[in-house]
Amino acid sequence: MINISNLSLRFGKRILFEDVNLKFTPGNCYGIIGANGAGKSTFLKIISGEVDPSTGSVAFTPGERMSVLSQDHYAFDEFSVLETVMMGNQDLYKIMKEKDAIYMKEDFSDADGERAGELESLFAEMDGWNAESNAATLLSNLGIREEQHTKLVQELDGNEKVRVLLAQALFGKPDILILDEPTNDLDIKTIAWLEDFLASYEAIVLVVSHDRHFLDAVCTHIVDIDFSKMTIYTGNYTFWYESSQLALKQRSDQNKKMEDKVKELQEFIRRFSANASKSKQATSRKKALDKINIDEIKPSNRKYPAIMFNQMDREPGDQILQVEGLSKTVDGQVFFKDISFMVNKGDKIAILAENNLVTSAFYDILSGRDQDYKGEFKWGVTITPADMPIDNADSSKAARKIW
Ligand SMILES: Nc1ncnc2c1ncn2[C@@H]1O[C@H](COP(=O)(O)OP(=O)(O)OP(=O)(O)O)[C@@H](O)[C@H]1O
Ligand SMILES: [Mg+2]
Repeated sequence: MINISNLSLRFGKRILFEDVNLKFTPGNCYGIIGANGAGKSTFLKIISGEVDPSTGSVAFTPGERMSVLSQDHYAFDEFSVLETVMMGNQDLYKIMKEKDAIYMKEDFSDADGERAGELESLFAEMDGWNAESNAATLLSNLGIREEQHTKLVQELDGNEKVRVLLAQALFGKPDILILDEPTNDLDIKTIAWLEDFLASYEAIVLVVSHDRHFLDAVCTHIVDIDFSKMTIYTGNYTFWYESSQLALKQRSDQNKKMEDKVKELQEFIRRFSANASKSKQATSRKKALDKINIDEIKPSNRKYPAIMFNQMDREPGDQILQVEGLSKTVDGQVFFKDISFMVNKGDKIAILAENNLVTSAFYDILSGRDQDYKGEFKWGVTITPADMPIDNADSSKAARKIW
């Protein structure tokens, strides 16, 4: 269990959060949500001990092991993949290292022998003999092939590295698992695997994510950081969203009713306070008016992003795009071959590939950036296409028009 009491954090004059009192219990997955800069990552760092709070404390049940998904993609470059994963269980890893160092010694003393004996029994207690095969299974489940397990981490590509770091965090079944935006840079297959893994994982999981679908799949609770407070809700993200919208609506409906009442009373007072026969009623209404308290609805610092599409110049016809036998090969590697399909008005299509380069190559052709392909495609005569490239640094605010 994690018990947080009277926690607050401020950077200079700025209060990130205060009066935080929360309990996290095993078997639950807590999704931490809030606007950019609300303090989600900082909150996780307080729990993992990387940042000290301004006030308050975080207490753990003794003996519980915590594991944190590493944010540093280069920290393990010099280590083998398998060793990196096993480092996830630091206590076990230290025992393995000390044991190995003793056995490497040429002048092996009696004291060394005794220490080695102690370490061996600790190692066995911690299921050390299965550590390597457990790490290998985890890696294989995450799609890291066996021949890569002995490679150095620096030899892997970015997508493989994040999966190794994830395996490291999950290795050895930690009691507390801390994941800050774990789905960033993960392919959808791995995200689906992680969702299943977490949904049946009996530990305390704290996760920050901007991925609503992921939060819905894994969370039993939502911790919302807003107005410098943290509020915990039982249920997943959709449940939190719907209930918080409902609560907001109820408060503003209530306010609206109160405002109407205030107007009505003010009107009465204005009309009759000079009228001797009604002045008594006017005075009592003045008192009633003083008692009305309109809830101040503070603005949230949360912003919901939106994609705005400019008004189209003309209504498009039914035929949007026709692709015929499209093929692309890069350095002898076939990215795709003979793709043919039609896009009709109203279609919404997701293009998926295991390799991101393939989807990018496909878009590059359709947007006219890449002329080196086989086959053909034709945009409908009535349409105005626009695209948003992955690297959109120079596309300014608006999606770039293709022509
Ligand atoms: N050491 C520090 N000193 C001063 N300010 C800091 C420090 N660390 C973080 N901050 C500020 O605290 C705020 C919260 O940062 P944090 O990274 O926790 O936000 P977040 O909720 O994780 O945001 P995001 O969704 O963008 O990841 C930010 O405004 C950040 O600039
Ligand atoms: Mg963050």
